[in-house]
Amino acid sequence: TPKLEFLLTETRGRVGLVTLHRPKALNALCNGLFIELNQVLKDFDDNQDIGAIVITGSERAFAAGADIKEMKDRNFIENYRENFLGDWTKLTQIRKPVIAAVNGFALGGGCELAMMCDIIYAGDKAVFGQPEIKLGILPGAGGTQRLVKAVGKSKAMEMCLTGSVNLTAEEAARAGLVSKVFSPDQVVDEAVKTAEQIANLSQPIVQMIKDAINQSFEIPLSSGLTFERRLFHAAFASKDQKEGMGAFAEKRKANFTHN
Ligand code: CAA
Repeated sequence: TPKLEFLLTETRGRVGLVTLHRPKALNALCNGLFIELNQVLKDFDDNQDIGAIVITGSERAFAAGADIKEMKDRNFIENYRENFLGDWTKLTQIRKPVIAAVNGFALGGGCELAMMCDIIYAGDKAVFGQPEIKLGILPGAGGTQRLVKAVGKSKAMEMCLTGSVNLTAEEAARAGLVSKVFSPDQVVDEAVKTAEQIANLSQPIVQMIKDAINQSFEIPLSSGLTFERRLFHAAFASKDQKEGMGAFAEKRKANFTHN
């Protein structure tokens, strides 16, 4: 693998851990960082020894947003021609579960990046916000869409329209944006622990669950329920279903082979 400029990566057991590492710019999400992130995530997704992924930043910043200095002179035609920010959505095509372990600032694109992940764990000093309006722009990677679904309309409107109303980790947890809050030095370990737990369950079924939950954001309920039931039916074609139910009946621990 080529040397990474903006990221650190490691594997812990069956978990792939990516650390955004651009400390001088509070992990501002420059183009190069996202190119590397997409590549690393794809490599983890293709690696059968990895079952789940954790993305984190530093204790000071998960990410302070898209790189303002890099984008300040862009114009409409460039944005349109290059589909600026379009490649950020590649993260949502990763099939394995992705957990964001957020400490410090998760602002603008940083908050949006966290929301593209499947689960968010936060350190108790984390701050979530969409300050784009203060720069004369609007959120461009899901802030007006995913945030509404996570925290409801009134809070999302208040955050995006003022750019100054941020959520603390506790508030984000109460609103449902974040699933658990830890002390800052525990967040990554706890995220890895949950990722490892998921990575040891049946991988095809894990992917079906992620797929089904994500469909709930895209399609009507009746179609989502049909989609879910078809996957439920299909699960019975797996060895892991026979193993999981067999182990329960025999009062032993299941040993999933991801088949
Ligand atoms: N882009 C580029 N550089 C950034 C940055 C960003 N989003 N955020 C921080 N930095 C840089 C600062 O310019 C500074 O660099 P220098 O040392 O070279 O001056 C360095 O990181 C440290 O930042 P500060 O000195 O500002 O640190 P602070 O502790 O005083 O403030 C902060 C922290 C409140 C997060 C502040 O840096 C800030 O407001 N950052 C911008 C947040 C923002 O507006 N994000 C939205 C970006 S637009 C976007 O994301 C669009 C989208 O939807 C995709």
